[in-house]
Amino acid sequence: MLDFAGFSLYLERRSYRRGVTAPFLPCISGSMTQPRKLHIKSFGCQMNVYDAQRMVDALAPEGFVETANPDEADLVILNTCHIREKASEKVYSELGRLRVAKDEAALQGRRMAIAVAGCVAQAEGAEIIRRQPAVDVVVGPQSYHHLPQLLAEAARGGRALETEFPVEDKFGFLPPPQPDAIRARGISAFVTVQEGCDKFCTFCVVPYTRGAEVSRPVDKIVEDVRRLADNGVREITLIGQNVNAYHGDGPDGRPWPLGDLLRHLATIPGIARLRYSTSHPRDVDQSLIDAHRDLPALMPFVHLPVQSGSDAILAAMNRKHTADDYRRLADRFRSANPAIAFSSDFIVGFPGETAEDFAATLALVTQIGYAGAYSFKYSPRPGTPAAELQETVSAAVMDERLVRLQELIDSQQSAFNEAAIGTTVEVLFERAARNPGQIVGRTAYLQPAHVMAGPEIIGRILPVRIDSLERYSLIGELAAPQPHAAFVTRPDSSPQSLPITTGA
Ligand code: SAH
Ligand code: SF4
Ligand code: F3S
Repeated sequence: MLDFAGFSLYLERRSYRRGVTAPFLPCISGSMTQPRKLHIKSFGCQMNVYDAQRMVDALAPEGFVETANPDEADLVILNTCHIREKASEKVYSELGRLRVAKDEAALQGRRMAIAVAGCVAQAEGAEIIRRQPAVDVVVGPQSYHHLPQLLAEAARGGRALETEFPVEDKFGFLPPPQPDAIRARGISAFVTVQEGCDKFCTFCVVPYTRGAEVSRPVDKIVEDVRRLADNGVREITLIGQNVNAYHGDGPDGRPWPLGDLLRHLATIPGIARLRYSTSHPRDVDQSLIDAHRDLPALMPFVHLPVQSGSDAILAAMNRKHTADDYRRLADRFRSANPAIAFSSDFIVGFPGETAEDFAATLALVTQIGYAGAYSFKYSPRPGTPAAELQETVSAAVMDERLVRLQELIDSQQSAFNEAAIGTTVEVLFERAARNPGQIVGRTAYLQPAHVMAGPEIIGRILPVRIDSLERYSLIGELAAPQPHAAFVTRPDSSPQSLPITTGA
């Protein structure tokens, strides 16, 4: 039992029994004359992006509407990431800033509540309560459906913490997004199909912050995807910390693998593109390979983190595969669909990584040829087995290795993007770009592509003749004759072309 002496108003919550919900504060639901403002700041991976939307959906019935300005918010939620030390430490500097905003609000006679959610909340909940008195609520990722109750408790003058893994499935209790919220979020949406991880890679906090691997049933996912498609969504990315370990109950009573789920979702009217992230090389099965062979809607862009090209380091990381296993896997994907391109994650400077180990990583990158990849310096995380390892790599060596790896990956990414120039590619148009008259969309490989056109092309997949490359953005013209075809195209400064963010 942790020691919480000195926090007399502190309330520790235990899991609710299945189907039992605590009463909301009577003033919250329905009777609000003015909407209350909610600001959410998310760090970390795509799961946090998705969770932020679900928290907005959970708080909408309580009268909350989103604001981009934290200073005017009645509730600020920090949705945090614990993956590396830097990501984790950010929370406390953010909270310092929010404390000032909360004091300012109080001077104006306004109450600003502060909640900390996400993986730091899960890992360091009690520490957050201890270190930052301005925090009202701490809520772990498996308990977002209890947010209204936790806020109600805090409003009664306490501080609420819930970092248990409740017995009930939060998805059964989170309200679905409203049609206008879906439309406002655009034509591409994430859907969580799997959460948690049982892999226990020795460097990684995720199995501790997100808990054991759980797959959602097929019919619930189909329901979510239909609702999204009915409200204009054209592209779905199925997400999970270990998405290809998916084995949700199918309508036939058997567990379905990810490939079968994708095959089924591809039949839903309106869904033009399917993606999934993040996969583990160990969990790629034939159903997934076959889905890439058979489904035109399944985009030929696979994020397949490998971390290292050295068998000794892969073993020390507990990745449970070799570099050759990974090469063979890449070959299987490419034989199923030669258009497939890969992205990946790498860690440099894992304890014990020698110059030869690192050379093996560079060799693997050269052999696979990536369209892009994320690379990180190893960060020891409290409670993980690797944090106990003594043979650490110096900061200077890590820096040097990271630069060399990133140079190699950047050169591959540039070559991949340049290869699009002069070709005609299909682009799913998403939104107006920053430059007037310009619309931006994504290619199959998530490269941003810009054309001059009217907003009526948003939500459509159209062929685009690529003329040039501006940083990571492709610039082109609609291949079919269009009224705006004579305009000169200019880029906006759209972000990177990689599929996901893997932690701050
Ligand atoms: N489930 C995914 C990755 C989730 S975490 C997988 O198995 O690949 C996202 C990425 O963060 C990881 O792929 C890894 O490259 C990086 N990462 C995780 N823990 C880290 C640590 N302790 N130090 C540095 N990078 C880390
Ligand atoms: Fe799980 Fe991925 Fe973390 Fe490994 S790196 S423990 S597979 S989340
Ligand atoms: Fe958690 Fe995602 Fe970060 S699972 S630790 S928010 S990368």
